[in-house]
Amino acid sequence: MTRILVTGATGTIGRHLVSSLAGAGRDVRALVRDPDRASLPEGVEGVRGDLTAPETLRPALRDVERVYLMWPGIAVDPRVVEVAAEHARHIVYLSTDIADLADGEPATSFHQEIERQIRATGRDWTFLRAIDFATNTLGWADQIRQGVVRWPYGQASRSLIHERDIADVAAHVLTSDGHDGAKYVLTGPESITHAEQVRIIGEAVGREVRWEDLPPETAREQLTAAWGNPAFVAARLAAWRSFVDTPERVTDTVEHLLGRPARSFRSWAHDHADDFR
Ligand SMILES: NC(=O)c1ccc[n+]([C@@H]2O[C@H](COP(=O)([O-])OP(=O)(O)OC[C@H]3O[C@@H](n4cnc5c(N)ncnc54)[C@H](OP(=O)(O)O)[C@@H]3O)[C@@H](O)[C@H]2O)c1
Repeated sequence: MTRILVTGATGTIGRHLVSSLAGAGRDVRALVRDPDRASLPEGVEGVRGDLTAPETLRPALRDVERVYLMWPGIAVDPRVVEVAAEHARHIVYLSTDIADLADGEPATSFHQEIERQIRATGRDWTFLRAIDFATNTLGWADQIRQGVVRWPYGQASRSLIHERDIADVAAHVLTSDGHDGAKYVLTGPESITHAEQVRIIGEAVGREVRWEDLPPETAREQLTAAWGNPAFVAARLAAWRSFVDTPERVTDTVEHLLGRPARSFRSWAHDHADDFR
């Protein structure tokens, strides 16, 4: 049976992916930094390894055919992809909505850099270009508990995706053929505004939550203080502003691959109601 290695196996996507692969009786191994502390489903072998130390990945990669690779936002070390490609014949990479690089064009994000490294290995590859996780709205949890969310661009429409749909697509790609060279752009089934997302979460939690538009300049100061990355904040604000007039795009890739519609934001809010209580 094909052995699959899942990196980020305790993370937002990885934890659902290992559960789903193990539940389907697949031979799945989880890369974790601390096997004693990682909570993994029954039947999943946790093997120690650290993406900041590529040589430590070899035991986890032994006899592995396919790898699900995620990158936890640390400095990129090209040896990770090299070591993965020495062992595995197919790398499935959790990426985001980025443009393909032309030959010689410099990468502007770690996702572009890693995609380029993976393409250069000569191994099979599939990129899961997820646009925006619905879990990003967990950042509003404290405000939702207080009954009012102050955030910029209430009318910005976003196509948030349920993390379980990304995990389901990853499981499908890791256990079937025909995905070599595919760049799957993954979104939720609809685009809904920030203010509407807050209303839906309030309904799921059983509390009325008010939306208050935060002026963009105030948001810039607050988010820069919180996130510590002015360029990232500027890019987010510009994107949200653009989604007021042009809603974030919606793809039917989840439905196309899985034969059922992507989960709605409403169902995500119900699944996570306790996180906002
Ligand atoms: N949020 C979005 O809207 C969005 C959209 C598109 C793409 N993405 C991308 O999704 C990725 C994050 O995926 P996620 O949300 O599933 O992960 P996550 O919840 O952020 O989890 C982080 C995982 O990384 C592992 N990890 C951290 N440092 C590690 C290291 N040095 N070596 C090995 N493992 C390490 C942790 O494992 P242990 O602690 O157990 O070792 C944990 O399982 C990022 O690349 C992000 O850019 C996010």
